Amino acid sequence: MSRKMKNKVVENLTIERIATEGKCVGHHDGKVVFVQGVAPGDVVDVRITRGKSSFMEGEAIKFHEYSKDRIDPFCSHFGTCGGCKWQHINYDLQKTYKRQQVVDQFTRIGKVEIPEVLPILGSADTQYYRNKLDFTFSNNRWLTREEIDSGADFERNALGFHIPKMFDKIVDIEHCYLQGNISNDVRNELRDFALNNSLSFYDIRNQVGLLRNLIIRTTSTGESMVIVQFGGDNQEEIEMVMNFLHEKFPQITALLYIINLKKNETFNDLEVVTFAGKDYIEEEMEGLKFRIGPKSFYQTNSDQAYELYKVTREFAGLKGDEIVYDLYTGTGTIANFVAKQAKQVIGIEYVEAAIVDAKLNSKVNGLGNTLFYAGDMKDMLNDEFIAAHAKPDVIITDPPRAGMHDDVVNMLLKLEAQKIVYVSCNPATQARDVALLSEKYSVDKIQPVDMFPQTYHVENVVLLTLKS
Ligand SMILES: C[S@@+](CC[C@H](N)C(=O)[O-])C[C@H]1O[C@@H](n2cnc3c(N)ncnc32)[C@H](O)[C@@H]1O
Repeated sequence: MSRKMKNKVVENLTIERIATEGKCVGHHDGKVVFVQGVAPGDVVDVRITRGKSSFMEGEAIKFHEYSKDRIDPFCSHFGTCGGCKWQHINYDLQKTYKRQQVVDQFTRIGKVEIPEVLPILGSADTQYYRNKLDFTFSNNRWLTREEIDSGADFERNALGFHIPKMFDKIVDIEHCYLQGNISNDVRNELRDFALNNSLSFYDIRNQVGLLRNLIIRTTSTGESMVIVQFGGDNQEEIEMVMNFLHEKFPQITALLYIINLKKNETFNDLEVVTFAGKDYIEEEMEGLKFRIGPKSFYQTNSDQAYELYKVTREFAGLKGDEIVYDLYTGTGTIANFVAKQAKQVIGIEYVEAAIVDAKLNSKVNGLGNTLFYAGDMKDMLNDEFIAAHAKPDVIITDPPRAGMHDDVVNMLLKLEAQKIVYVSCNPATQARDVALLSEKYSVDKIQPVDMFPQTYHVENVVLLTLKS
């Protein structure tokens, strides 16, 4: 960025609309200005932090007028914690913006002919809707401007969330409105216990410290899984922490821990030790049971996951004689959910442990017409695989945010299934993939579903039908 531009203040910028990733936009000198933490209708002074020839980015430093659509954020951590960036916008408007994001992505990126995007399916719960949260221990707590200016000494150990774009700074969380049940109590009690017993909080820069990470997963059936990741292997201290949690929270149904001496927090390649209870929790939907292990993906809003799966099943329009492929199947949730309406369902997924759960889920639910395979989609879905299995009539695909690899898209074009139901948590990559698939498919239905109130994220289901 040129010196001239850096720290330049754009005054009285009217915020016009919401763009991608929750950023809002205004215009100045013929350029788009992206600003975080504001709302359409605000009038603000903006300090420019990044400037390019066609756009600028900045932060609001003074408000002249507040949008009439603003509401008071309910969380004391709002603005510091990166979790719920849209708490200042009322929920009806959040839904409008989310649907608009889908429209925008499909018209701007997708550039394909689309039907009217259906009204978004809102979430009944706009707080405490998550079934999984991941907290980080750190010896480098984020201090607010007021705390620094006060000159006082503050506790620097923290247990909470990463400050956006700062890998080593953690905001200490007192109360999080995203997960109910025992979540807030477990986090706060564990932090207090660690502080009272002088246990070390992880130092990410030097890669040392006992307590590293805490994952809490809950289900609508009342089960809970707590996983503590330790950055050291002092068995006496580990036992102390785990015994504390076991005694304080006997209602935890799966109490697990991991010793992680690696540089990163991922633990797919590490042993998970069951300290007490089971090594999984179980979610339920329409009488079907879904077993979730510590390494398995499960949609984070259970109630809305049910709505999402119902839309997926309806779009698939199964009559009972179809071969269905469920790509990126995770623990086989969608595969098992639609299995009773299909002749056979074949699920493919990267994480081996999730495939173990997917198979178990079929067994537990007495479903004998599913097959599951573990591997990278672009390698798995090849001519050999198709020759060894029946060709699909319907393909359900639910890839990660990055969307599908080109090889996978090309294979779908080659397979020519009658229908593709494309579920995505990122309409931008979904629109990109749909544009490629439009060579042979028409877009028949688009249904946004809100899984994540208070954030800009939107889930989207698209029905593609093979052109005749
Ligand atoms: C959005 S989740 C969908 C899970 C599942 N459909 C559900 O609703 O629970 C995406 C899944 O894709 C898997 N995945 C990511 N990259 C993959 C790849 N290259 N090949 C196969 N699976 C992959 C992830 O492990 C994850 O389980």
